[in-house]
Amino acid sequence: MAIGILLVGGMGTRLKPLTNQTPKPMLPVGGLPVTERQLLAAKKAGINSVILATSYLSEVFTPYFGDGSKWGMKLLYAVEKEPLGTGGAIRNAADLIDFADATEEFVIFNGDVLSGHDIAAQIAFHKANKADATLHLIEVADARAFGCVPTDSTGRVLDFLEKMENPVTNAINAGCYVFNPSVISQIPEGKVVSIERETFPQLVKSARPVFGYNEQSYWLDIGTPAALFQGSRDIVGEGFIAGSGSVIGQNSVITGGTSIGQGSTIGANCKITNSIIGDGVSIGDNCSIADSFILHNSHLASASEIIGKYISPTENLPISL
Ligand code: GTP
Repeated sequence: MAIGILLVGGMGTRLKPLTNQTPKPMLPVGGLPVTERQLLAAKKAGINSVILATSYLSEVFTPYFGDGSKWGMKLLYAVEKEPLGTGGAIRNAADLIDFADATEEFVIFNGDVLSGHDIAAQIAFHKANKADATLHLIEVADARAFGCVPTDSTGRVLDFLEKMENPVTNAINAGCYVFNPSVISQIPEGKVVSIERETFPQLVKSARPVFGYNEQSYWLDIGTPAALFQGSRDIVGEGFIAGSGSVIGQNSVITGGTSIGQGSTIGANCKITNSIIGDGVSIGDNCSIADSFILHNSHLASASEIIGKYISPTENLPISL
């Protein structure tokens, strides 16, 4: 059975201030952290053992996920004192186990992607091609903002190209890879390495079999505030969702794909739209909230007007969606 590695150690600078106290993969979309959604997807594909490659705010993950038994999974945590980049993080995580002797594949997930693709089919495609590495590719309408990945008619990757004005293909790296252990052995230990800019181009240059698994499915990189809110709305739909133990006061109207976590209290006569509200939040009566992110355990006084804001128990900062 394949072993999963989740890359969850980045600084999430484009999402600031939302990532001031929460690592990007732990931000909730549709009421669940992105990481939890990815673990559920991995499990569905038969991956029960996962290593979380952490660095920035690493201490946030263990209290939430523990040993993984709540999800019927086995979780291990690798911690980088200084972020090692995507490649260095994979090597550091695999070093937690005797990976060089492993016979099974590793499946690597960028920790900031919501994807509905068929991971089990990606693994099967990898095996059928006797590939060393197989990336999920997704076609986007405008690939100019991304590096693109041309393949031949069998799916074999021909090149990894940097961002360009006239991309040769609309297929881009969707951030989920199947690797044989031999690919991980070639990443140097304890060094900062980029899997996208160093490892993949080197593999192709040395004619190793690297394949692209092309599947058009729901796919979103939640790397900016606008994308994170989009992802949450996509899951919630037009109205709103609220977690267990949350209470909503009389005449309050909640719309625009808002999600409310567990054990939160919303007062009477509030208007809330297009917002993400965490667990244990308390909001007074007559509040108006739009396009805002209210972190766990925050408190808002009655008649607060919060538009385009990030609120935590200690901060009140603007965000633009
Ligand atoms: P930005 O700073 O906004 O670019 O975000 P980021 O730091 O998360 O970088 P990026 O979006 O390129 O990262 C893609 C995925 O890899 C994310 O899930 C990150 O958490 C993860 N990641 C990036 N760099 C590292 C690293 O050095 N170590 C680990 N463990 N994960 C990383």
